[in-house]
Amino acid sequence: MTTILAIESSCDETSAAVCRDGRILSNVVAGQKVHEQYGGVVPELASRAHMQNIVPVVDSALQTANSQLSSIDAVAFTQSPGLIGSLLVGTQFAKSLALALDKPLIAIHHMQAHVLANLIDDPKPSFPFLCLTVSGGHTQIVLCESPVKMRVIGETIDDAAGEAFDKSAKLLGLPYPGGPLIDKYAKEGDANRFRFPEPQIPELDFSFSGVKTSILYFLQNAGKSNIYKEEFLATDDEKKSFIQNNLTDICASIQGRIVSILLNKLKKAALQTGIKDVCIAGGVSANSGLRKAFIELGEKYQWNTFIPAFQYCTDNAGMIAITGYYKYLTGDFADLSVSASARAEW
Ligand code: KG4
Ligand code: ZN
Repeated sequence: MTTILAIESSCDETSAAVCRDGRILSNVVAGQKVHEQYGGVVPELASRAHMQNIVPVVDSALQTANSQLSSIDAVAFTQSPGLIGSLLVGTQFAKSLALALDKPLIAIHHMQAHVLANLIDDPKPSFPFLCLTVSGGHTQIVLCESPVKMRVIGETIDDAAGEAFDKSAKLLGLPYPGGPLIDKYAKEGDANRFRFPEPQIPELDFSFSGVKTSILYFLQNAGKSNIYKEEFLATDDEKKSFIQNNLTDICASIQGRIVSILLNKLKKAALQTGIKDVCIAGGVSANSGLRKAFIELGEKYQWNTFIPAFQYCTDNAGMIAITGYYKYLTGDFADLSVSASARAEW
């Protein structure tokens, strides 16, 4: 039996998980409310919150899994990419634990772990599979040949999909993180009511900055137009009442465009590669509009579609644990001199 303790602290969620022979026994996630009032994650506050959370979170993950530190075979942790202060807390904790327990240490790439979240529950995709990974910091199409061999075949050239959701929500006056709120209001709205442009980006890459700008002008003009013209500009009161009276349709139209940008590129990747096992992953894969449209697209093109359970979509240590398990099987261990890195190579 192989038991892995995993730690995730790349952004504003402190998480720990225990995995035995590829099965997740616990996945504890502590969010950080402190950032809400600032409309985004404040790195220094995130690091401090991780320091407060990490011991109780690890403790709780062990207890839920009915495990003890003495039964752990290896410690896996998110080494990159992410906020450097946040990563350092998890990295130092994992290194200290591995040293104290005299057990191997496994360094994990956060984005690869999002992809492998699809290997947690059955049914699982067969290799090679494609994964659209959409989070607050990344938007990528990954071709995954094995749990330890994958490459990025398309990615965003500016904002990430999660950023597009969160920045749009901010323009609407919604609190951070706004993605889930746009999702909530979109359920009641008409996605065809307002039109935002689809960018023309070559190959499998994405761009969201044009959509964001058109949403900005659209709101500044209280819905009269998507383009900037002084005579279109509305007063603050006009803008507020336009948003209030049309919130659900605006959210549905924004979400509809972001989803269509994502899925058009995924469709292109599947057609180009001929791969039929297709997954989505990352925080934005929790979006109900994306999930529904992805499944419908899969039915149309006869793909086998996979989406991780909700708890494994947003940042979590369960995905770090499953990635750690596969690395353990190949003996891919890190030295105690390993350090956290904000940026990561593939
Ligand atoms: O993967 P994740 O938890 O953290 C990063 O690694 O970035 O992704 C967080 C992102 C945020 O931008 C958040 O707004 C977005 O995922 N998100 C959603 C939904 N749930 C989370 N976006 C749209 N709809 C959702 N339901
Ligand atoms: Zn993430």
